[in-house]
Amino acid sequence: MSFRLEHVQIVFFSGTGGSKRIAVTFRDELLKWGSVVNLVELGGSCKDQIHEPTSGNADFYILIFPVYAFDAPGLIYRWIEAQKGDLSGKEAAVISMTVAKRWRRKGLLLFMTE
Ligand SMILES: Cc1cc2nc3c(=O)[nH]c(=O)nc-3n(C[C@H](O)[C@H](O)[C@H](O)COP(=O)(O)O)c2cc1C
Repeated sequence: MSFRLEHVQIVFFSGTGGSKRIAVTFRDELLKWGSVVNLVELGGSCKDQIHEPTSGNADFYILIFPVYAFDAPGLIYRWIEAQKGDLSGKEAAVISMTVAKRWRRKGLLLFMTE
């Protein structure tokens, strides 16, 4: 399967900054590959908020959010509902963050980069 990554929209919510770091890293890498990227932060409890316009022209969507109570936060559902069918047939990647401590206890080596 091949993806069109000419115009990518990254939509994220981040309570404590982890999902935001992932979103910004994806944005920076995609820009290096020549994609046009819109980064949309939902909510905005992070200090340095990023606001870029929502675009219906994207050919690929990346949704990034923390798992809250075994589910996606309500903000994510509300954003999807607000697209009024514009996402129909669009390719997307969904990335959900969980608690790293539990994985560390299982012996997995985790690291973060700046
Ligand atoms: C209210 C709340 C509920 C959460 N529920 C879950 C959960 O059900 N499962 C889980 O693995 N982590 C849960 N977490 C942990 C977050 O998913 C995790 O810390 C995530 O990495 C935070 O990402 P962020 O830094 O982008 O906010 C919860 C955190 C909060 C604050």
